[in-house]
Amino acid sequence: MPSYQSIIYSKLPRVGESIFSEMSQLALKHNALNVSQGFPDFPVDPSLISLVHEKMKQGHNQYAPSYGLPLLREKIAQKIWNTTGIEYHPETEITITSGATQGLYTAISAFVREDDEALIFEPAYDSYVPAIKANGGLAVYAELEPDTFTYDWTKIKRAITQQTKVIILNTPHNPTGNLLTEHDLERLENLVDGSDIIIISDEVYEHMTFDGRKHVSPTSRPKLAERTVVVSSFGKVWHNTGWKVGYVYGPAELIREIRKLHQFLVFSVVTPIQHAYAEYIDREDTYLELSDFYQKKRDFFLSLMEGSRFSFRPSEGSFFQLLNYEGISDLPDEDFVKDLVKLNGIATIPLSPFYHLKTKGKNIRVCFAKSDETLEKAAEILCKI
Ligand SMILES: Cc1ncc(COP(=O)(O)O)c(C=O)c1O
Repeated sequence: MPSYQSIIYSKLPRVGESIFSEMSQLALKHNALNVSQGFPDFPVDPSLISLVHEKMKQGHNQYAPSYGLPLLREKIAQKIWNTTGIEYHPETEITITSGATQGLYTAISAFVREDDEALIFEPAYDSYVPAIKANGGLAVYAELEPDTFTYDWTKIKRAITQQTKVIILNTPHNPTGNLLTEHDLERLENLVDGSDIIIISDEVYEHMTFDGRKHVSPTSRPKLAERTVVVSSFGKVWHNTGWKVGYVYGPAELIREIRKLHQFLVFSVVTPIQHAYAEYIDREDTYLELSDFYQKKRDFFLSLMEGSRFSFRPSEGSFFQLLNYEGISDLPDEDFVKDLVKLNGIATIPLSPFYHLKTKGKNIRVCFAKSDETLEKAAEILCKI
């Protein structure tokens, strides 16, 4: 057996197992309650499952068109139009992907070349940086404000250079639950005006916003829309993250480049599910009622946490809630969450893995896309700490 270590020059030398897999495995080992990874623990709508089954039995089992089933793309265009009043052409401006992860990787690969800079905001969802690096790009990090996780646009301006090719946004934000505001978008528009910078906007939690807040996308401003590719995912909306179907949309010129790579990465996406989605998407309530559904979960969990020693600001969107443990322990966040699993039987996520250098912040992330019973148990454990 030859040693490949001397021949392979790893493109991602520091990438190991993700924190999500690590915490889930630790949870299993210690038989701990798992509120770490971002997936719902309640069932998929049985009528959607029947619909997929029906589509399989009808024979929709061979390759779908590479850019996605035309009917599904039409329905997505309709949905975007209904919810935002913005028009995207299904033929040229929308492509179905294998989850948002593939959408993100493909978009980043399409636009980031050797030595290009891609600006990301930390804490950042973990898939952006590896995709930038695997394409020879340089990740440039702008840190959100340590306590409020808001954007300091003066600082961000200094991070933008002639080499900046891409800016990656994420709203509603994983892990903080914050939303971008109109003011943020106005500042961003001024910053990128006159440049060739492309914006990749990760909006997988777009239908989960709370307390009357609205999701605002860069696509709502024509000057940003012309340079923005949005990445979205059905998995978060219909409680089926394992089905891995998402989509990207943006100006035809940008989507054309993404499609070139898409066809060689996956060629096409699971056919019967696309057929089922093209029908199920007509049920607007399934996404329009999601904010209420998750706000109830958030409120239920936070009402139970009232008596705890953790401090928190209610999440504005997504299905994540940060809890601050400053008043409880001096431990770094990664040690704190490991102790929580081993000593208290609950798995959460530290924020350090969302930074290229660890954070000194004392926050942990809890996923509240869980049954009320799980949330009750989680709060009961956390309130004893
Ligand atoms: C911010 C963000 N973007 C993208 C994804 C990936 O979505 P998908 O499961 O559709 O690949 C996730 C999943 O947790 C996420 O939190």
